[in-house]
Amino acid sequence: MNFELSEEQLAVQAAARDFAQTELLPGVIERDSEQKFPTEQVRKMGELGFMGMMVDPKYNGGGMDTISYALAMEEISKVDASASVCMSVNNSLVCWGLERFGTEEQKEKYLKRLATGEAIGAFCLSEPEAGSDATSQRTTAEDKGDYYLLNGTKNWITNGKSASIYLVIAQTDAAKRHKGINGLIVERGMEGFVVGKKEDKMGIRGSDTHSLMFSDVKVPKKNRIGEDGFGFTFAMTTLNGGRIGIASQALGIAAGAYELALKYSKERKAFGKHLAEHQAIQFKLADMATKIDAARLLIWQAAYLKDQKKDFVKAAAMAKLYASQIAQDVTTEAVQIHGGYGYVKEYHVERLMRDAKITQIYEGTTEIQKMVISRELLR
Ligand code: CAA
Repeated sequence: MNFELSEEQLAVQAAARDFAQTELLPGVIERDSEQKFPTEQVRKMGELGFMGMMVDPKYNGGGMDTISYALAMEEISKVDASASVCMSVNNSLVCWGLERFGTEEQKEKYLKRLATGEAIGAFCLSEPEAGSDATSQRTTAEDKGDYYLLNGTKNWITNGKSASIYLVIAQTDAAKRHKGINGLIVERGMEGFVVGKKEDKMGIRGSDTHSLMFSDVKVPKKNRIGEDGFGFTFAMTTLNGGRIGIASQALGIAAGAYELALKYSKERKAFGKHLAEHQAIQFKLADMATKIDAARLLIWQAAYLKDQKKDFVKAAAMAKLYASQIAQDVTTEAVQIHGGYGYVKEYHVERLMRDAKITQIYEGTTEIQKMVISRELLR
């Protein structure tokens, strides 16, 4: 692998950085405090090509590699992790899942709109009683001939209200356990589909996380993704790639906090000199920067393997495991370096510290990443 970024990759990185600074930074504190979804900003992200970065241009995507996607995710997450989770779910779960496993008709009808950001997608796996234990789906998709009758509740769904296209995982034949699960494309507006309560979250408060209720929703058979019973493999395979996006988000949160702490340590004086001149602070900065670089290398490795069409399952889980852990460490240290200022909203690092926590929970908890990694090591 070449560690030097190509001109195209550098251009994507610069464009994402510029967008984050000019469009996301103003208002990010208010959106967090008011739990306001960045509607206008996400629309612009679509226009700039950030919502379908890896999708083939024939379906309106950017045709970019996964490294470019990781770079853009990092830059946007440095400033606004609520915007970047919307971007991550749309790109690496919804668009990627549809492009890889959808029919031509599904790609024409749904992927083309998702790739431009004209429509936003949601990935609906978690349930009140099935988060990590994803095979225990209670939502049912009863086979009724030319349609499925969908019933049940999904929880903690990112883009729950802003989405219009939902990939819903549901159980068709419980006796077959994970081989009886299907993935269905559900459209906003289908009769019997209701968006439920919005979650009042610790972090990523600008993102809209909702429960979803399905009551006798008739989903046409042609909206099934893959063969009958493919839904669990679909979800797991899609999540493998999604973990590169969330790892990049965790990295961005850490890097954003580190950059703020570095800047602050050069400005603020204590005991007659700048904080950065104290060895206690220098050692903190050295640890933070080392962890950030190590996380970035794991992410690039996973992205590289995926782009090379090689097995990236373990690498992606390792990247997510490590990046989400260092995001806790680095954001906590960034708050510490800021002292009292770090504990108030104006200085951004307290938000980054709150935002960091979710990266150890969604798209597989820390414990799930260890299960995935050890499965790969032991098989
Ligand atoms: N990739 C591909 N296939 C996989 C897989 C992976 N990482 N992990 C398991 N599978 C396959 C297995 O090969 C097996 O298939 P076969 O029988 O055909 O061989 C099947 O899945 C079942 O495997 P297990 O018996 O090992 O299943 P399990 O019940 O022990 O669970 C698990 C495996 C890894 C724990 C899985 O349930 C899992 O990943 N859970 C976490 C789910 C998750 O990430 N949820 C997050 C919600 S989505 C989200 O957060 C999106 C958002 O809004 C931000």
